[in-house]
Formats: sequence, structure tokens, C-alpha cells
Amino acid sequence: MKRIVIVGATSGIGLEVAKLCIREGWLVGAAGRREEALAELKALAPEQVVTQAIDITRDDAPECLSRLVGKLGGMDIYLHSSGIGSRNIELKPDIEISTLRTNGEGFVRMVTAAFAYFRDNGGGHLAVISSIAGTRGLGSAPAYSATKRMQNTYIDALAQLAHMEGYAIRFTDIRPGFVATPLLKHGDHYPMLMQVPKVARRILTVLKTERRRVVIDRRYAVFVAVWKLIPEWLWERLKIRTKA
Ligand SMILES: NC(=O)c1ccc[n+]([C@@H]2O[C@H](COP(=O)([O-])OP(=O)(O)OC[C@H]3O[C@@H](n4cnc5c(N)ncnc54)[C@H](OP(=O)(O)O)[C@@H]3O)[C@@H](O)[C@H]2O)c1
Repeated sequence: MKRIVIVGATSGIGLEVAKLCIREGWLVGAAGRREEALAELKALAPEQVVTQAIDITRDDAPECLSRLVGKLGGMDIYLHSSGIGSRNIELKPDIEISTLRTNGEGFVRMVTAAFAYFRDNGGGHLAVISSIAGTRGLGSAPAYSATKRMQNTYIDALAQLAHMEGYAIRFTDIRPGFVATPLLKHGDHYPMLMQVPKVARRILTVLKTERRRVVIDRRYAVFVAVWKLIPEWLWERLKIRTKA
């Protein structure tokens, strides 16, 4: 029976993956800021779910994580799903800064804590949900795309570090395209929008197979491959934006 910690399990992708893990018979340690949502998840399978309120932007978040791992009796998989994102064509500083705090600082705070746990406890599987948005800089969401790129690179760096130091830690970087969750703003149009259950099922498979890196779904994988080939002078002239 696997023991998985999901940070960002109160909504959207993380919540749906948590439900699938329960169905698999795994033990789930669920975290997020909203205690009511955590209680609702626990009520689905009180024997299998333990919870802990964690705000990843706070200094005490690693301490809260180790409390959660204690309640779970250990951790085999850490899945980082917490994140925020907004279009910010007006470049409002508060949006840019809070995105950096959650997706940058908060992300690093939590994955370093998970890394340290696995280093000190014989290994484990560290998985994160980043995004295809990290592929290139996106003018409509500068902080979001930049922090997602940082997450991709950070996991690459940790994977090399684990090899260098001989730690038995496996890494998975999950990069979905648009998924219909509260993160996307209601009323906007998103191309090739995917539904949460389908994405969550794919993530569960990826967690079981321990793929190093995956783009969800195949259509987006093609998209991303093409994006990478576009020369800089042309990329900077493209109008990639969602329509309200
Ligand atoms: N939806 C998409 O189109 C899409 C595409 C690619 C990648 N992603 C990524 O997938 C991940 C999950 O997003 P989602 O689409 O499922 O969005 P969502 O439904 O809004 O869920 C976001 C989760 O992050 C948690 N969170 C936010 N700020 C937090 C904080 N300070 N501390 C702890 N937890 C925090 C939320 O929990 P609380 O509010 O309870 O704290 C919630 O559980 C994100 O990293 C997102 O960037 C999403």
C-alpha cells in the first residue's frame, strides 16, 4: 500500500488525483490551506486519509509537512500540485509577486523539504505538476510562465543532485495543457481544454510508472514540440492569448 502526500489536494487536479489514490487503496496525506475542503476529502475515506493545513508561502510549511508525514506513517510519493496562475497583461505587480511567492518560493520550500525527507529515509518518488506554460515565455502571463520554467529546471537540478550524491530519489515533472479547474478564469476561452478526471487518470498512471517527464495530453506534446522550434524573432511577434 503506497503512502502519497499531495500538497494542493483541496481543489482541481490535486483533489481528483487524491480521490483516485483512495480508490487504489493507497494512504493519502492531503494538504492545502482550506481546512473545510480537507475535511470533506477525509470524510470520503476516513481510514485512508490524513490531512494537514499547509500554506506553502509560510516559513512553517516544512514543519507542517513533517507533521503530515508523521500522521501518514511515512511517505513513498510526494506530489506537488499547489499553484496559482493568472493572465496579467496589465502587469499588475501584486499578481506577479504573489505568483512568484507561491509557484517559486513556496514550490522550492516544499520540494526541498520532500527531497530532504527522501534523502534521510532511503529514497522515494518526488513528483510535481508544473505546466506546458514553462516551455517559452508567455506575454499574457509572465510570472506564471517564468515560475513554471523555474520548476522544470529546479527538478532537473534536483535529479542531477540526487545522482551525484547517490540518493535513491526518482523524479517526475508533469506538464499539462489547459485543464478545466478553478485556476482558469470562468468565461475565458481556452483551446483544447481538458477535463480534470481524464488528466487525473493520466497522472495516476505516470505516478505508477515513474515517468521522468510527461506532457498531458498528446496533442499538447505536439504543440510544445512545435513551440520549441519557433525562432525567437517569430515567437516574440506571436499573439498567444486566451479570449475573454
Ligand atoms: N488548470 C490548468 O489549466 C493547469 C495547467 C497546467 C498546470 N496546472 C498546474 O496544476 C496545479 C494545480 O492547479 P489546478 O488547475 O488544479 O488549480 P486549482 O483547482 O486552483 O488548485 C490549486 C491548488 O493549489 C493550492 N494552493 C494554492 N495556493 C496555496 C498555498 N499558498 N499553500 C498551499 N496550497 C496552495 C490550492 O489549495 P488551497 O486554496 O486550499 O490552499 C489548491 O488545492 C498548479 O500548479 C497549476 O499551475 C494547471
